Amino acid sequence: MGRNTQVLLVDADADHREMLKRALTQRSLAVVGEAHYGVEASRLAAALQPDVVLVHLREPFALSLRTLEAVQAAAPCATPIVVSRDLGPQAIQKAMLAGARGFIGSPVVAESLEATILVARARHRGLLDRALDPTSSAVPIAGAVLTVFGPKGGVGKTTLAANLALSIARQTSAPVTLVDADVQFGDVALSMGLDAQRTLGDLLEAMARGETPDIRAYLTRHPAGVDVLAARHRHELTPAADPEAIAAVLRELARSFDFVVVDTPGTYSSAVAAALDESTTVLLVTSADMASVKDARMAVSALRREGFSDDRVKLVVNHATNANSVTEADIAKTVGCEVFWSIPHDRAVPVSTQRGEPLVLADPQAKMAKRVQAMAALIGGAGEDVDAGGAMFGMFRRGR
Ligand SMILES: Nc1ncnc2c1ncn2[C@@H]1O[C@H](COP(=O)(O)OP(=O)(O)OP(=O)(O)O)[C@@H](O)[C@H]1O
Ligand SMILES: [Mg+2]
Repeated sequence: MGRNTQVLLVDADADHREMLKRALTQRSLAVVGEAHYGVEASRLAAALQPDVVLVHLREPFALSLRTLEAVQAAAPCATPIVVSRDLGPQAIQKAMLAGARGFIGSPVVAESLEATILVARARHRGLLDRALDPTSSAVPIAGAVLTVFGPKGGVGKTTLAANLALSIARQTSAPVTLVDADVQFGDVALSMGLDAQRTLGDLLEAMARGETPDIRAYLTRHPAGVDVLAARHRHELTPAADPEAIAAVLRELARSFDFVVVDTPGTYSSAVAAALDESTTVLLVTSADMASVKDARMAVSALRREGFSDDRVKLVVNHATNANSVTEADIAKTVGCEVFWSIPHDRAVPVSTQRGEPLVLADPQAKMAKRVQAMAALIGGAGEDVDAGGAMFGMFRRGR
């Protein structure tokens, strides 16, 4: 048997720390050090190089979040995990952007504490191994996974994902699938006028029961040639998506589809992080307002910290409203990377969303539609002349 997973505990609350220590040592985990926030935590992380750093996240969040970032710089191979009484979406989002790879509710239950730590560690190790050995067979040769991401809500992620997937399918005739990773509240199917009988939520449930379902049976075919893995109908409740299962679904899809386009929710979660990890390319969407641009900046630094190379993250400015307060040059400067693509504001877009008919189908000549088609041509490989279609290698297409 291998050695126990080594954990550095960072918690200024002595009682809480004792409770954590008891729970950890009951299981297969070794507490190799204990620290307060700040310098002490970084120093110990650097000296011990533990497998896992467990940080107690509590109000005021700023100090614990800064510590979370600092320990990653001090021990880059350690897996950062937070434990907190507050695991609301905002707290999770902040912690994920600061690099957390796992979340544990406090007070803790020893079994789930161990399970969360071991799963997060195993997943992180897999990524580290792949990063160290890019030729590793851990990365199957498969379709490109393009994840449309943006931590701010309503910036046009779903609109872009649907129009892009349809455009790539049209231009390349390659198999394209569109996954709605907003398992509970996603509106991809609605925006495409589809009535999905089976959903990603159903698929995840079957997987959680230990079945090995055929993913194809959960896809809904759009007549324009995209297979959609839709979100659950709103009236049914879905438990939080298991990140491992989301990753497995995307990997499986990439085995049979040349392009797997993933739409993500406006809140960051471990399921979103898993989708990002699986991505060949992340299309980071921002609108042209300061709040969204600042969120994009945080997202870019979080992704860089996670080891995403700059060519894997593409900044897309979508002018979702016509009240733009910042120029694209300012956006590039603030976010710290160049603008890969920009999509104009177009009043026809909300109308097409309402009708459930994406604009690239409803009016391919509309200015937003033309711009998305040109983006699809670059990604899918149809070249500048999108009407020509069919060229073989796009910039994000993986070789076969
Ligand atoms: N380029 C555009 N021009 C005009 N309206 C747009 C544009 N892009 C998106 N919209 C509109 O903005 C609204 C929000 O878009 P969308 O639902 O795609 O955002 P989202 O980022 O997916 O939101 P959420 O975070 O809630 O999932 C929709 O009504 C859509 O029609
Ligand atoms: Mg959306």
